[in-house]
Amino acid sequence: MRVHVLGSAAGGGFPQWNCNCQNCYGVRHGKIRAVPRTQSSIAVSIDGISWLLINASPDIRAQLEANVALQPKRGLRDTGIGAVVLVDSQIDHSSGLLMLREGCPFDVYASRMVHQDLSSGFPIFTMLESWSGGINYRELAIDGSAVIPDGFDGLRITAVPICGKAPPYSPHRHDPHPGDNVALYIEDVNAGTSVLYAPGLAGLDNSVVDFMQRSDCLLVDGTFWREDEMIFAGVGTKLAKEMGHLPQSGRGGMIEKLRQFSHQRKILIHINNTNPILDEDSPERAILTGEGIEVAADGMEIMLEACRSGVSASQAASLDKAARPLSQGANR
Ligand code: MLT
Ligand code: MN
Ligand code: ZN
Repeated sequence: MRVHVLGSAAGGGFPQWNCNCQNCYGVRHGKIRAVPRTQSSIAVSIDGISWLLINASPDIRAQLEANVALQPKRGLRDTGIGAVVLVDSQIDHSSGLLMLREGCPFDVYASRMVHQDLSSGFPIFTMLESWSGGINYRELAIDGSAVIPDGFDGLRITAVPICGKAPPYSPHRHDPHPGDNVALYIEDVNAGTSVLYAPGLAGLDNSVVDFMQRSDCLLVDGTFWREDEMIFAGVGTKLAKEMGHLPQSGRGGMIEKLRQFSHQRKILIHINNTNPILDEDSPERAILTGEGIEVAADGMEIMLEACRSGVSASQAASLDKAARPLSQGANR
């Protein structure tokens, strides 16, 4: 299974158009070692031809231009995108559907709550009906049952309801429902590899921890370093938890939570432009490196290899290392 990171920033991107915070100013003027990032989305494929687009960011057009694998190859009008899956109805995850209107009709998998938001507060499903019949809504169940999207043999998706927030525009922003936000447990059933994707994660309850334990790779909420980051940076008034995000630092923060996952590759994604980890020379970034936690960047490609004799891909990799300690020598 291949995972391409199309966009690794939170809503607003990096730098954000109207922001002059230390990071946005720094990256714009070359004062810090950091790379710009587009808004939150990944693409997943088994064969490298047909891609499942997970979240449709407002930056989708630039993301597709930057990713040859997803570009048209087989006909006059074509795309590598076989279907779309949404983890929530946030603007940074769904508004790109409007940019895909020329490709209607296509399948969009989402929970009922997400479909409801996108048919009411932000009625993309309704609006797109005027483009060749619009998008085909496919329900993503939140009862633990898995789905193999049409045309994606062997790529199995389980939506895991998580604590998060419906978007500010949602009619039920302050009245949370299961399915407002889901994590996706994505498996290549033939290879026995899996990844858990959760760009918004307000906390880790037992069910998501269970799926994280089974995964080879974790792509999880990297929005904020501090609980009061927006206030600290002078750009907002809300705490991380009010926005549905678990910060990395502090007691019970993401760094601490991730320590229980020993064989998984751990990568933070959906990083807000205020987060000091964007600066590659920051002490916060060094802490992550020391913890074995990576920071996603646009264009990152993750390859999850087939497992051998019932051992998961990353377990196999660490067994390899343990069995051949001398292979770490200087000329490797
Ligand atoms: C969030 O996840 O909190 C968002 O990135 C905010 C937004 O899209 O404006
Ligand atoms: Mn977001
Ligand atoms: Zn900024």
